[in-house]
Amino acid sequence: MKKRLVYLCGLFLMSVCSCTNTTTKVDFIDDNLQFAEKQISASVTGCSSEDKVTSPRTTLPDGSIKYAVPEDWTSGFFPGSLWLLYDYSGEEKWKNEADRFTRSIEEVKDLKWHHDVGFMINCSYGNAYRLTKNEYYKDVMIQAANSLITRYSPAVGCTKSWNVDRGWQAERGWSYPVIIDNMMNLELLFNATEFTGDSTYYDIAIAHANTTLENHFRDDYSCYHVIDYDSITGEVRHKHTAQGYAHESAWARGQAWAIYGYTMCYRFTKDPAYLKQAENIAAFLLNNKNWPADNVPYWDFNDPKIPNTYRDASAGSIIASALIELSTYANDGASYKAAAVKMLKSLGSPAYRAKLGENNNFVLMHSVGSIPHGAEIDVPLNYADYYFIEALLRLKALK
Ligand code: GLY
Repeated sequence: MKKRLVYLCGLFLMSVCSCTNTTTKVDFIDDNLQFAEKQISASVTGCSSEDKVTSPRTTLPDGSIKYAVPEDWTSGFFPGSLWLLYDYSGEEKWKNEADRFTRSIEEVKDLKWHHDVGFMINCSYGNAYRLTKNEYYKDVMIQAANSLITRYSPAVGCTKSWNVDRGWQAERGWSYPVIIDNMMNLELLFNATEFTGDSTYYDIAIAHANTTLENHFRDDYSCYHVIDYDSITGEVRHKHTAQGYAHESAWARGQAWAIYGYTMCYRFTKDPAYLKQAENIAAFLLNNKNWPADNVPYWDFNDPKIPNTYRDASAGSIIASALIELSTYANDGASYKAAAVKMLKSLGSPAYRAKLGENNNFVLMHSVGSIPHGAEIDVPLNYADYYFIEALLRLKALK
């Protein structure tokens, strides 16, 4: 009888503990998603009229909002966030706004002068098609993938990131620059093969991922930002940075694109080399001596001013989202998920999350665009918000 009582008490305690845990986690995710709904709802009101919409990108030094024109690499993130909030809430108002903002960048399907068309179209049109199955969105994605593959060179085995005939890129002596960020554009190519059955897009995506695997990474699995190739021979000419502290440093957002990119490549290909790469990058990040206690990275792992330098909430959001997906494939999944939860809790705390109605209605504060360019330092960024919301939804879906 006594034994039975102890057993029943144990069961009761276990069920109380597990209820408490579940409630805490659900509250934390929903609290942040509901906050995002409120901020972004105010943002939509401020950024649109009946006949015109313009996506917010960041805050300018004078405190005003900087908007993203369609050809801006960040133009897909705000429409993408609206689709993610539709995914979360199921409410038509989000679907209608998401559709309006998405259609406002349709011209990107024909953009051929930089590589970011993958980011731009996949976050906006990609989520649109995923959630609605409307063929219009799919057709735009296929057209955009056709534009992106015009930048592919079989001699190099990559799509070219930046043209070198204009802007600051023209001053660096590069021939065929490929940046680690470009891994993110491959998702559009994988989707295009799934839509059309044409393996051209898939083959280009894996060639790009394999060439990047070979040349972008150091022995410790940190990565360079820019690899400049000889456009005729495909030889590596330079290993450089553009947005990091130094050529040999580990720029935090670059590492974020790398872990997200290889995790996504594994999703489409099931190639164990990509899974291994993502796990190796995770080890570089999570075991790094400069990985901070709150799990929100400094803007560059090698800035000698650490800890007295900037954090990059955007890198934190991207890494959190990647780790949650990686946790579903990897043997060490539980530890990746735990690290991501800690990151998201930090990002959702007053240290990084704005107060309601402040921060130009962006969700997160404290991101960094490009310190070497003196641009967007310690500001909100639309992609920090996008990947924060995506990470929260991914975590919610794990349940
Ligand atoms: N793709 C540009 C950046 O991460 O800043």
